[in-house]
Amino acid sequence: MCGITGYIGSKEAVPILMSGLKKLEYRGYDSAGIAVLKDNKIKIVKCKGKVAKLENLLEKGAPKGNIGLGHTRWATHGRPNNINAHPHNGCNSEVVVVHNGIIENYTSLRERLISEGHNFVSETDTEVFPHLIESNYQDDLTLAVKKSIKEIEGSYAIGVISTRDPGKVVASRCGSPLIIGIGEGEMFLASDIPALLSYTNRVIFLEEREIATITKDGVEIIDSEGKILQKEVINIDWDEEMTEKSGYKHFMLKEIFQETMVIRNNLEDRINLSTKTLELNDLFLPLDKIKEIERISILACGSSYYTALAGKYIFEELTGIPVEVDYSSEFRYRKILLGKKDLTILISQSGETADTIAALRACREAGSYILALTNVRGSTISREADSVMYIKAGPEIGVATTKAFVGQLMCLYILSLYFAQVRETLDSSEINKIISELIKIPQMVEIILLKDPEIIKLSEEFHKYHNFLYLGRGINYPIALEGALKLKEISYIHAEGYPAGEMKHGPIALLDKTFPVVVIVPRDKVYAKVINNIKEVKARDTLVLAIATEGDKEIINIVDKVFYIPKTSDILYPILSVIPLQLFAYHIADRLGCDVDKPRNLAKSVTVE
Ligand code: G6P
Repeated sequence: MCGITGYIGSKEAVPILMSGLKKLEYRGYDSAGIAVLKDNKIKIVKCKGKVAKLENLLEKGAPKGNIGLGHTRWATHGRPNNINAHPHNGCNSEVVVVHNGIIENYTSLRERLISEGHNFVSETDTEVFPHLIESNYQDDLTLAVKKSIKEIEGSYAIGVISTRDPGKVVASRCGSPLIIGIGEGEMFLASDIPALLSYTNRVIFLEEREIATITKDGVEIIDSEGKILQKEVINIDWDEEMTEKSGYKHFMLKEIFQETMVIRNNLEDRINLSTKTLELNDLFLPLDKIKEIERISILACGSSYYTALAGKYIFEELTGIPVEVDYSSEFRYRKILLGKKDLTILISQSGETADTIAALRACREAGSYILALTNVRGSTISREADSVMYIKAGPEIGVATTKAFVGQLMCLYILSLYFAQVRETLDSSEINKIISELIKIPQMVEIILLKDPEIIKLSEEFHKYHNFLYLGRGINYPIALEGALKLKEISYIHAEGYPAGEMKHGPIALLDKTFPVVVIVPRDKVYAKVINNIKEVKARDTLVLAIATEGDKEIINIVDKVFYIPKTSDILYPILSVIPLQLFAYHIADRLGCDVDKPRNLAKSVTVE
């Protein structure tokens, strides 16, 4: 939520700040702004609306200067308008701040600062930051920031510039991510890696309550007590091209078409093709640990929660270990009943979701071993977990996740097969059989993607409806949930996912010819049961679109439309069935003229509670 950029060097700051903001817009896009420091003056340009609107404003005359900050906002305190947009300044425009996070004690701080004579103009919590820094300033900006963050309760990533101490950008974080990019004679600041890739691959991740003083020649980082720290510089193996649309109309479409590659990335180096065994050299999870696990808890938010639900089916089926799944946001406020024999798996594409980070810390306190599945090297979750398995999806820019979802599913398959191998819950022939099917999945995905024109046609027929019900059973139930979520988040059409067998306990009351049903009905062990459910739906005059297995001739006589996916093992169907549902949501939203990559009110990385 909210994206921050910063620059200090000898080039014009504005184009660099703006190119970073465009890459961070997935974090929020209801207002945007920049601040540039030159000749002891800070000029701010900001407005309600997306980064493109700010760009139009800047075309009429951008402030010149080599030091600056940028911000793209996702409103928490104060509605999106020109005044609430960041950057915010103190009383005399001498201290300017961009902020990502929520200051929980802002009311009391604001009252105190007003009583001391400070003048507030916005409705935001952020505005206390520049006033507080101003009031704590003696002769050094870093020390003023250090003193100020001690008074702040809540989460923050901040970039600060000041006319009083002009040759630096000061940055700090607690709960929200912040990264420093290292260049030659220039330095960068950003909320996430994609904003930096045009300029550098060398980054430093700031940790909780650290304070960075950035000049054009380098950075000094101290902890909250002022101790100078030696930080590791990490080389990121993503490149700039990965963050471009590469000819696709939207990032979401590009990312769906990258799914074959994501699946291959996940298989590579993890499966020994000649022995058909798993070799998880990149997973530092001790074998003894795997053998002693008595229960697994999987925690996540949003779509990652749906992969977690699929993970329950996969782990229980392949390893026999009981699995509990919970939303991180619910889990963190319940009594935590975990211990040393538990394994907690956290799933988070970004590695920065605030509730999942909080859940991680609660599990750590309870003594559970923590394994993270994440896409982002260096993210908070990757750093705080005991072991990490990367989902190898490359940067995902579209707000609605697609390729990372597929990468997470792949990790869950590989991980549970590996556990089955280590714990000997399946014999080697059974493992071989699933691996043989798994390595055919990339070709199958290619076949599905080639049939995109069929989905475009389906979107033409279905885009006029205002309500959809998605049904699935067994391991395809989480995919029904994900299909419905994809449609509602990018097209704003109401859609509900439901277990097919439960449909008659409620949702059936809604069905008529205006309320289509999308049903996932592969030829698996619950096929006959789902067919019964479809018949119950059809008896209500409802239009049904089925995702079915190639060669299933029976289904076409029962439903109105069918999209066929290739035949695979029962347990692997989710990775195939989710793809047509992603494309279906994409084409409907695109046809309706929605801003697919930046759906209203959503953000890709939810770094506030
Ligand atoms: C947001 C995104 C979703 C994502 C969820 C969890 O809601 O829009 O696409 O699934 O956050 O994010 P994470 O990075 O933790 O997987």
